[in-house]
Amino acid sequence: MGFIVAIDGPAGSGKGTVTEILAKRLKLTSIDTGAMYRCVTLSILRNKVELDDIKKIEEILDNINIELLKENGNQVVKLNGEDVSKEIRDNPVNKMVSKVSAIKEIRTKMVDLQRKMAETQDVIMEGRDITTVVFPNADVKIYMDADLEERAKRRYAQNQAKNIQCTYEEVLEDMRQRDENDKNKEVGALKIAEDAIVIDSTNLTQKQVVRKIEKIIKKEKKVKKLEPKIYWERPETKRKEVVRAITKSVLRGIYKIFYRVEITGEENKDKAGEKGGYIICPNHVNYIDAVAIVVFSKERIRFVAKHDLARFGMLRWLEHLFDVIPIKRNTQDLEGMKRCLKVLKNNEVLAIFPEGTRNGLEKNGKAKNGAAFMAIRTGKQVVPVGISGTFKLFSKVRINYGTPIDMSKYKVKGKEKECQELATKEIMDNIVMLTNEKK
Ligand code: DC
Repeated sequence: MGFIVAIDGPAGSGKGTVTEILAKRLKLTSIDTGAMYRCVTLSILRNKVELDDIKKIEEILDNINIELLKENGNQVVKLNGEDVSKEIRDNPVNKMVSKVSAIKEIRTKMVDLQRKMAETQDVIMEGRDITTVVFPNADVKIYMDADLEERAKRRYAQNQAKNIQCTYEEVLEDMRQRDENDKNKEVGALKIAEDAIVIDSTNLTQKQVVRKIEKIIKKEKKVKKLEPKIYWERPETKRKEVVRAITKSVLRGIYKIFYRVEITGEENKDKAGEKGGYIICPNHVNYIDAVAIVVFSKERIRFVAKHDLARFGMLRWLEHLFDVIPIKRNTQDLEGMKRCLKVLKNNEVLAIFPEGTRNGLEKNGKAKNGAAFMAIRTGKQVVPVGISGTFKLFSKVRINYGTPIDMSKYKVKGKEKECQELATKEIMDNIVMLTNEKK
């Protein structure tokens, strides 16, 4: 599988044009999946097949050949060898394509074709279900949006330029209906993937949108190239142990010079440690709070960190030295998850920020269930930690460890999700309490 950029969004959000520009700039193959559904629609129209005649539709699907080509820099769409680039944008297809694209059998076939297209090349694919169904693990996931009125205005201007007769009100109504259909399909409905980056282009120029997405793609490309280095684990050796001890003591010295670090409740770690491995869950104040926890602990603590942090050489070295576990946020990073579970099974100490991001709670973010999930799964205890202080130079920073939380009460068959939510809430409540606790 190559590098995959997936872009979804409603009609008129500008994803088609932006995809074409980015494909050219970044040498990616652009795939307009809407054109594929349009080809199927044209074929159905030409063969005069009723939409409830699934047998005939399957026959069409068995014999269909759709090609998305580039000729002299222009996109050319071929249906069974014939250039249909213009015809698939005409009114008869426009009127029917939404209904056609809601048919399950058609979607299954198209999704299959789309996945095959990305097997041997780097692609930028746009549509409605690319980030959610076709490539839920795409390297880059973008959801492009814009206000309905703005999208209708753009489409109306495009139609005028192409001499297509219509009124603005007609375009607006057509778009409203398409949005409704696209969002309410039984299969392949348009929705925002949890980990997609949403770009609202209502008040942005095309250039600004392109620049934004280009930056995201370039960063992810770099990370993808580094992935073998990021996920590679340095084996434990005597030398590594010594270097880690020296680095720890140097960093501890530096922290002592620049901050007045105060640690309380350390005995709680010892208590949890009596039962083997455990999970430390602190609030996340800034980039250097994790280092403070690691260097001021006598135990070896393995933090979970977002995997793209390790794209900087020096940080990567430190992460390898301290056996940080890189994890891709918001996606199902099975490799990362397996490593965390292995650490706990080996009775090691794992540390996770349940907020997921810095000052997540202040930003009104929802705490992540990852720590609770792993604690319940492995039967390990959670040690909540309240970090108070801003890490301003020479200011006081307090790291306050709380009583270990036993998670066994949350192991209820059939109620996994609810229990994880409750467990996460208990962890977060403890963290907040510890953060505010007066000495
Ligand atoms: O992007 P477009 O307007 O050319 O798409 C034509 C239709 O196909 C539109 O009704 C949405 C549908 N479509 C879909 O259901 N899934 C996709 N991945 C792409 C398009």
